[in-house]
Amino acid sequence: MSNEKSFHMTPDEFRRYGHAVVDWIADYHSRIESFPVLSQVKPGEVRASLPANPPLHGESFDAVLRDVENLILPGVTHWQSPNFFAYFPGNASGPGILGDLLSSGLGVQGMLWSTSPACTELETHVLDWLVTMLGLPEKFLSSRTGGGVIQDTASSAALCALLAGRERATNYVSNKKGCDGRIVAYVSTQTHSSLQKAAMIAGIGVDNLRSIAVNENFAMRPDALARQIETDKRAGLVPCFVCATVGTTSSNAMDPIPEIARVAQHHNLWLHVDAAMSGTAALCPEFRHLQNGVELADSYNFNPHKWMFTNFDCNSFWVADRKALIQTLSILPEYLRNQATESGAVIDYRDWHIQLGRRFRSLKLWLVIRHYGVEGLQHHIRRHVELAQQFASWVRSDQDFELAAPVPLNLVCFRHKAGDAANQSIMDRLNRSGDLFLTHTKLNGQLTLRLCVGQTNTQARHVERAWKRIREEAEKLTTNA
Ligand SMILES: Cc1ncc(COP(=O)(O)O)c(C=O)c1O
Repeated sequence: MSNEKSFHMTPDEFRRYGHAVVDWIADYHSRIESFPVLSQVKPGEVRASLPANPPLHGESFDAVLRDVENLILPGVTHWQSPNFFAYFPGNASGPGILGDLLSSGLGVQGMLWSTSPACTELETHVLDWLVTMLGLPEKFLSSRTGGGVIQDTASSAALCALLAGRERATNYVSNKKGCDGRIVAYVSTQTHSSLQKAAMIAGIGVDNLRSIAVNENFAMRPDALARQIETDKRAGLVPCFVCATVGTTSSNAMDPIPEIARVAQHHNLWLHVDAAMSGTAALCPEFRHLQNGVELADSYNFNPHKWMFTNFDCNSFWVADRKALIQTLSILPEYLRNQATESGAVIDYRDWHIQLGRRFRSLKLWLVIRHYGVEGLQHHIRRHVELAQQFASWVRSDQDFELAAPVPLNLVCFRHKAGDAANQSIMDRLNRSGDLFLTHTKLNGQLTLRLCVGQTNTQARHVERAWKRIREEAEKLTTNA
């Protein structure tokens, strides 16, 4: 046997350090409330604590784990804290973490069915499960004309949808010849910024992405959409795509999908429905009315990595006509040719998204669904919505605060009546205190606070304390005035 040093971690070392890492993660979760939710480090502080040069000689794993604790942890914003109410949830869970670990352990790259059949088939299967779990239309099932695929993010899903819409509208010519500046797409003023990025990348151009006006509830106005399309057509432009949102990022507004779909169908536009966070609510039949009209969509996506206990990253994206998506994105170089692909009997997910290589992400989704069951997932979603509604009722009955938008689910947009400076000051002081983390938006030009309930371990006591702390900071406004 060779005595040459291998430098690798031996299986025994891996087992030992693996246990130590799992212990560290379990301990981290049990002491998470002791950390300030928003990291309090200054810019450059984390880097300044790291050695300028990489080590020449390998270091001990214990030393690395010590540095995670002492150098990395202070620079972490604790998304998994039950006092995290900012942006949108990014909730993780035991089964999600373990699923990711299994995926890393197997280390497969599932670009083709043949590079790991289980990677493809589990994904197809779990996404078919989700169609049923969420009450989505059967046309999204892989056994029908459509099918689902896991993307990294809702941004990538939107880009794929836009590309497919562009290709369908130009009879697959723009992939060949490029865009001619006449292709236009439609979003609302409240649509997520990822659609703007998608328009840039897809060669449509931001000037050809129309931001349609919204109503008093921040939902897209179908009449304004129809008018804009007609104006564009009269000008010789080629409308190709519209995005409707179930739960906008700013205020959780619900676009009227049936009316938007009617306009889209009339003009033969690709309708993409973005339900990045709020899509998870459809696990509960009582919230499914929010996605009425989705049966008319060409594509739909939501992020299990937001509100469905599946660690980042995991976006679920479905199309009604998989041929259109595949025709848009498929290129088959010689070195990827194989018998399974030629047979036509398998899905090659490389044709369903931008990148070639792909991780075994469906494992974590599978573990989450099997661990919680539909019942467990519904239980937590209902609880989060209930807690947000409770918070909204406190705001409603407080003389100093007001709601800034309807509260259909788990996001409460509210503000202190004293104006922007007061709200900014309340938010800054709360976030500096480390007790909780809130973020803001602007609605009708006014600074608005957002409280989003959806972290894995957020319970009534956390929401109660959040409201108490918000009230305390509001009191200081009057004391300091
Ligand atoms: C409605 C909506 N769409 C898209 C996104 C983008 O999500 P991702 O980070 O998965 O691209 C978000 C995230 O905030 C969102 O709220």
